[in-house]
Formats: sequence, C-alpha cells, structure tokens
Amino acid sequence: MKIAPSILSADLADLAGALATCERGPADWVHVDVMDGHFVPNLTFGLPVLQALAARTRLPLDVHLMIANPDAMAEAYAQAGAAAVTVHWEAATHLHRILTAIRRHGVRCGVALNPATPVELLEDVLGDVDQVLLMSVNPGFSGQAFIPRALDKARRLGAMAAAAGVGIAIGLDGGVSRSNIRRAAEAGVSYCVAGSAVFGAPDPPGEIRALRAASEEIA
Ligand code: DX5
Ligand code: ZN
Repeated sequence: MKIAPSILSADLADLAGALATCERGPADWVHVDVMDGHFVPNLTFGLPVLQALAARTRLPLDVHLMIANPDAMAEAYAQAGAAAVTVHWEAATHLHRILTAIRRHGVRCGVALNPATPVELLEDVLGDVDQVLLMSVNPGFSGQAFIPRALDKARRLGAMAAAAGVGIAIGLDGGVSRSNIRRAAEAGVSYCVAGSAVFGAPDPPGEIRALRAASEEIA
C-alpha cells in the first residue's frame, strides 16, 4: 500500500514542515488538494504553491484537482511539477482529451469519482488512465467520516480493469485511518490518501509507517 499524506490537514503556515514530515515517514507520495471554491466549497492551493512545493521536495506530488473546468487548467498543473494529476469525472467536459494532455507531459493521469458516481462510468476510459481515485468522503474538507461503500466500488473497479486487461492504480481518499486501511487493501486499493490521520497524530512520520503496516496486517 502506498501512503499519500494530504498536506491540507497540516499546519498551512508551515508547508515546508509538512513536506519534511512526509520525507521522514517516508511517504510514497505527497497529496496536494487543489480546491477552487466552485466545484467544492473550499479554497486551497494553486499553481504557484504547487511550484514552490515541487522545488522543496523530491517526493512525487499527487495533485488532486477539485476544480470546475479542469479542461482549462489540468495541463498547467501537469507542467508545474506534479508527478500525477487527477481530475474529477463530475467536473470534466472532455475527459479523454484532458487525460491525454496530462500524459503528454510525462505525468501520470487520474480520474477521481465522488461517492455518488458509479465506477461503471469509467468503462470507456480505463485504457487511458493511470490511476482512479475513489472518494470515500464528499470532497472539500479533511476530517470527515469514511463512507464504506467506496470499498465496494474499489472491488467493482478492480474487476472491470481485470476484465479489460488493463493495469490501473486504485486510490482511496477521505477518512482513511488505521481502522479501515486493511479493508482497503483487501478491496484492491493500492494507494491511500490520509490527511487528519497523519497530521492529527502525535507522531506524524510514525503514523505514515503505522498506516502502511496496518494495511499489511494479517486478520
Ligand atoms: C477531501 C480531500 C482529501 C482530504 C483527506 O476533499 O480530497 O484529500 O484532505 O483528509 P482526511 O484523510 O482527513 O479525510
Ligand atoms: Zn484529495
């Protein structure tokens, strides 16, 4: 299981400190939640912040775009130092075009699905995507309760990918903790975003390792 701490839950006045925490874990990815105040009711980081983060760390930056009209902006994020750019199915107009444009920059491309959006809608784009991020909360804020139905979606998506003969990474975002990460692994999830679980812990770098270990525990 790859662990991607979400720096949205860190001290936002100390993003360099948040990166240092991720490096000390170490984390596999650093998850950057870009919110525009339109697609979701919160406003966070933009391109200049992403560029500044990329200049400060060698960890790959996993950019989650929760913005309206990603058609206009996704490519700019792919050029600003992201290792992966994920756009929301619900916000994209020409999803295939966006994914192709992200990949053209040598950056992994992803699609995120809100809790109410079925994985079956991805059938015709499975071969064009590197990762699918299943939201286990309604996007906008850290610290919300986990929606368990996302695990069933992970299983269905894994079966769809196997049937299509394509390899995709399945991610889970929202309310992930030591108490549910083992079930995520069993459902075929290969990377988990964790915000409050990591940055709300007494020892955040240790919590990154504890989450990874918990995902591997034999029941
Ligand atoms: C939610 C964001 C998440 C969030 C995760 O809109 O996409 O990445 O920061 O935070 P927790 O793990 O606290 O739910
Ligand atoms: Zn996110």
